[in-house]
Amino acid sequence: MTTLQNDTFLRALLKQPVEYTPIWLMRQAGRYLAEYKATRARAGDFMQLCQNVELATEVTLQPIDRFDLDAAILFSDILTVPNAMGLGLYFETGEGPKFEINLQSEQVIRQLTVPDMAKLRYVFDAVASIRKALNGRVPLIGFSGSPFTLACYMIEGSGSKEWRNVKNMMYARPDLMHRILEINAQAVTLYLNEQIAHGAQAVQIFDTWGGVLSHKAFAEFSLRYISQIINGLKRENESRRVPVIVFTKGGGQWLEQMAACGADALGLDWTVDIGQARRLVGDKVALQGNFDPFALFGTQKSIQQEAESILADFGQGSGHVFNLGHGIHQLTNPEHVKVLVDTVHQASRQYHL
Ligand code: CP3
Repeated sequence: MTTLQNDTFLRALLKQPVEYTPIWLMRQAGRYLAEYKATRARAGDFMQLCQNVELATEVTLQPIDRFDLDAAILFSDILTVPNAMGLGLYFETGEGPKFEINLQSEQVIRQLTVPDMAKLRYVFDAVASIRKALNGRVPLIGFSGSPFTLACYMIEGSGSKEWRNVKNMMYARPDLMHRILEINAQAVTLYLNEQIAHGAQAVQIFDTWGGVLSHKAFAEFSLRYISQIINGLKRENESRRVPVIVFTKGGGQWLEQMAACGADALGLDWTVDIGQARRLVGDKVALQGNFDPFALFGTQKSIQQEAESILADFGQGSGHVFNLGHGIHQLTNPEHVKVLVDTVHQASRQYHL
């Protein structure tokens, strides 16, 4: 086992002292990088890239080689799990993910089961391969979708603006909705534990669509199943705590409830005041975020100012992992990413004296 040369990210998640605020970016390996597009072309398409251990390892390391990032994230997708359930995931260029089978009939829902993790072996092999390739440079993050966010795509059969079929089921047949969420929660627990066993040093649960729910529905249909997963996770590996990050996009108004879900850290989108969020959660959890991904379309100067203002709002001490409030946009200029990463590293030192 190689020793970690840079564990700043893991220490910040546990609110232990750090020298500077660590940073990584959601979707840091992706289409804004020419080298990613070249590797994806070699793989054929996106899913083949996810399933090719060698190439998935290569694209995971691309942003680490280009920028001074403090963590790597497994290159994969949240929809690998419903794909392993037999729903038939495919991507049509420019249209986002789609499923051959959706969960809109009771009969199909009754047949849904927790998938055999052997079907996801390519993901676990990628985790082990990336750990080896990183050789201790930075920690590796594993991830999964939340049960609710996965259910959104599974029920709708694709992405959606309104999630009408999802909400229809939630209000008309909550029993069916709970059945799907229970299966998803069991699947995600097994999936994340397997990633941890293969070397993931932290895990993030992406609750991208939790924010579309009403106040009461969020607790019942999203947060409850996230807590269930966290309760079932292996929290220590290789004699180190494996921190859990929960990111609910649009979840700013639920931070207090979320701070009690068992996570070590909560992700923030760009709509919240990170200083206020910190006062709200106290010392219960660390915070990750909350730079607007579109602020990377500004000037060098505006990027620096925006980053410095988030650092100042968080204030003195550890417990902040800098990140975007959502995934990086494909038209982002990579030079601007370098400005952001270097600004965060330099400007944050004054808050960790
Ligand atoms: O952060 C990382 O670098 C790791 C890789 C990662 C991807 N998807 C790669 C990807 C992660 C963590 C995800 C998570 C994911 N996938 C989420 C949750 C976070 C979020 O962004 O909301 C969701 C909702 C998905 C489902 C998904 N996968 C969508 C909606 C799309 C299409 C998006 C688009 O911009 O077209 C994908 C495809 C996808 N996943 C791409 C990448 C790099 C683009 C595929 C390509 O190369 O064409």
